[in-house]
Formats: sequence, C-alpha cells, structure tokens
Amino acid sequence: MRLDGKVALVTGGARGIGAGIARCLSEEGAAVAVVDIDGPESEKLAGTLAGPALGLGADVSQESEIGPAVERVVEEFGGIDILVNNAGVGTGREDISEIAMPGFENHSQAAWDTQLAVNLRTTFAASKVTIPHLRARGGGSIVNIASIAALMASPELVAYGAAKAGVVHLTRSLALELAPHDIRVNAVCPGYLWTRAWEALTAMMKLRTPELADVDQRDIFLGVVKRGVPLGREQTPEDIGKLVVFLASDDARNITGQEIKVDGGIMLRMGT
Ligand SMILES: NC(=O)c1ccc[n+]([C@@H]2O[C@H](COP(=O)([O-])OP(=O)(O)OC[C@H]3O[C@@H](n4cnc5c(N)ncnc54)[C@H](O)[C@@H]3O)[C@@H](O)[C@H]2O)c1
Repeated sequence: MRLDGKVALVTGGARGIGAGIARCLSEEGAAVAVVDIDGPESEKLAGTLAGPALGLGADVSQESEIGPAVERVVEEFGGIDILVNNAGVGTGREDISEIAMPGFENHSQAAWDTQLAVNLRTTFAASKVTIPHLRARGGGSIVNIASIAALMASPELVAYGAAKAGVVHLTRSLALELAPHDIRVNAVCPGYLWTRAWEALTAMMKLRTPELADVDQRDIFLGVVKRGVPLGREQTPEDIGKLVVFLASDDARNITGQEIKVDGGIMLRMGT
C-alpha cells in the first residue's frame, strides 16, 4: 500500500469530502486522525475506518484548539507525515438567510470574517502547528482543499472565493518556503460535489429564486451539474481522496506548489 507507515491528519474529516479523503488514506495504509469542529461525528467516522484511526473535536480556525489536537495525534501515532487542510464552507450552524443576500455590499463584516476564518484561517492555523512535526520526520506532504471558486470571478460567493484564492496563494508560498525541508504543498480544486455544502447552496438558491421554491434541492444540484460539467457527472469525495493519496505519496515526490482541478472539465468553459 502506498501510505504504509504514514500518519495523516484530515481537518473537517467528519463528513463530506473530508470523510472520503480519510477513507482513501486509510485504505492505502495510513493511520488517520480526523479533526473536526463536530467531535462526536469525528469519532464516529474514525470508528468506521479500516486501519488505526483517531477522531477529535476542535475548531481548526483557532490555533489554541488545533494546537492541542495536533499534539494528541503525535502522542497517539508518534508523528505526522501528511496534513490535509479540508475544513471549510461552514459549521452547519449558519443562518442561511444571513448569507442569502446577493451582492458584495450586502455582506456584513461579521459574515465576511466568518467566511475568511472558516475557509482560510483554518489552513493557516493547522499548517502552522503541524509543520514542525513534518520537519521532525524529515519531510512530508500538505494538501489544501481549495475550490474552483478560487479560480474564477464569483459574485455569488465573493467572500468564499476570496478565501479560497488565498488558500491557493498560501499553497504556493508555503511550497517555496518548505521545499528545503522536503515538505511538498499542493492544492486540490474540487468542482461540484453533493455534500452539506451544496445542500446549503441549493437552499440559498431556493431563497433567491422564486421559480426554484418548489424544486427538490438534489434536483436543483443535478441541473447545475448537467448544465455546467462537460463530463456530465458530479464529482465524489472519493475522486478527491484518490488525488490526495497520490499527492501525499512518493509517486508525487517532485510535485509541489500546484493547484489541480477535479471538476469534470467545468473550468475549461471559463477558459482555464
Ligand atoms: N462540496 C463541493 O462542491 C466543494 C467544492 C469545492 C470545494 N469544496 C471544499 O471542500 C471542503 C469540504 O467541504 P464539503 O463539501 O465536504 O462540506 P461539508 O460541510 O460536508 O464538510 C465540511 C466539514 O468541515 C467541518 N468544519 C467546518 N468548519 C470547521 C472548523 N472551523 N474547524 C473544524 N472543522 C470544521 C464541518 O464540521 C464539516 O464536517 C471545504 O473546504 C470546501 O470549501 C467543496
């Protein structure tokens, strides 16, 4: 197996894309720690993994919470080789009507700050406290889950897009800084996946568009996929997990500072 003897930490791994990544890493032989703001779901998910696993609760946007969680992982597994910065989008506790208003000028400063904290500061904080442990192992791999929203103008999701563009930029800067320590840093840009993120987006679309008021949320999503994805199908958490496994493995030993789209060709229509 490609990740035998490795230890991986996945933030936001209790559900959705992060859970898919955790499953793929575990199937390739890594010991996996799942750290999510939702502690009970983290533990539940860890309990379903094939190999050694640990589920912890922490708000990854706070150094004061992710720091002790990282120390607990090191205590349990003896070190860390792979960090997947996946936590993002939201905690599930947001008031949809707060973020349902379109237009930049309708953003409250509080909503802006929350988006930047959940989608960018999480990557900063988890990386900062984990890098010393990767260095101690003589190298490692960081994979940041960004989004295609980082790569295109997105007035509907302006704060989210700005945060994810920040993740892509941070990926490049860290890749350069950490290269002498043989720590590689790459980003993955997923396209459209039916997770809690798109449940929230379709709820928002129903609020904004009267014609969608009576349409099933899953059908709204499938309509977006049909219109927007050249390959004609949605992407899955396992699609993302398989790329993360590759980027974390020695097969990618000379790949760093890249952002790779897993979007069924969506961005080809944006000219990139
Ligand atoms: N679903 C998509 O179509 C899509 C597309 C592009 C990028 N992404 C990105 O993929 C990642 C995963 O999203 P998802 O679609 O699986 O959403 P999700 O809501 O299903 O999962 C996100 C997970 O992150 C956790 N989380 C949120 N804030 C946290 C915090 N501060 N500390 C710790 N955990 C926190 C949540 O509890 C949840 O378990 C996100 O970074 C998202 O931006 C998703």
